[in-house]
Amino acid sequence: MDEMENRLARLPGALLPWYRENRRVLPWREEVSAYRTWVSEIMLQQTRVAAVIPYFQRFMAAYPTVEDLAACDEGELMRLWAGLGYYSRARNLQKAAQEITALGGFPDTYDGLLALPGIGDYTASAIAAAAFGRREPAVDGNVLRVAARVGGCELDILDSKNRRQFRRRMEAVMPRQEPGAFNQALMDLGAGICLPGGGPLCDTCPAADFCAA
Ligand code: ADE
Repeated sequence: MDEMENRLARLPGALLPWYRENRRVLPWREEVSAYRTWVSEIMLQQTRVAAVIPYFQRFMAAYPTVEDLAACDEGELMRLWAGLGYYSRARNLQKAAQEITALGGFPDTYDGLLALPGIGDYTASAIAAAAFGRREPAVDGNVLRVAARVGGCELDILDSKNRRQFRRRMEAVMPRQEPGAFNQALMDLGAGICLPGGGPLCDTCPAADFCAA
């Protein structure tokens, strides 16, 4: 193991206990199902957490199951979505709900999820880990920043070749237990502590002991 792998390998042991105590309490985390995880991840693609919460609650009240969403009135769906923007997300949600219903249930693998409308690499990984316990890292810009700082990586993390390499590095350290909590711990660390620019709050960071930065 090189030094970067050593540092990254310490992330699960530090982050999982921290997440248990310090995670943001969010409706899709406290009651988990494939349907709830999926709807929340689609909403979170282009919308901030605080703005998503009330939309998510109203959505679940209106369409409690994937079958309800598959069969819903499109105009009503658009009215429910109004304000979130990027309406193709809502149309893709309904299309995917119809595919899932036709399949007889949610695909439970990264590849199966990726094949659904509106689901890309990040969202497929987030759902596969959070809802199905698969060791799939959900790596967006925030997670790349955290992992690059902890690992001491000098590479340009915006380069897609480097992103793929980083995804593989994160996959190697994903814990067997609670891979979804690990992904979401990285998201919370990136959103609340390991901030971009000059402002990381290293005093309160659970990875400070072994972080290269
Ligand atoms: N952004 C994308 N997915 C998220 C999640 N599950 N929790 C918090 N922020 C997120």
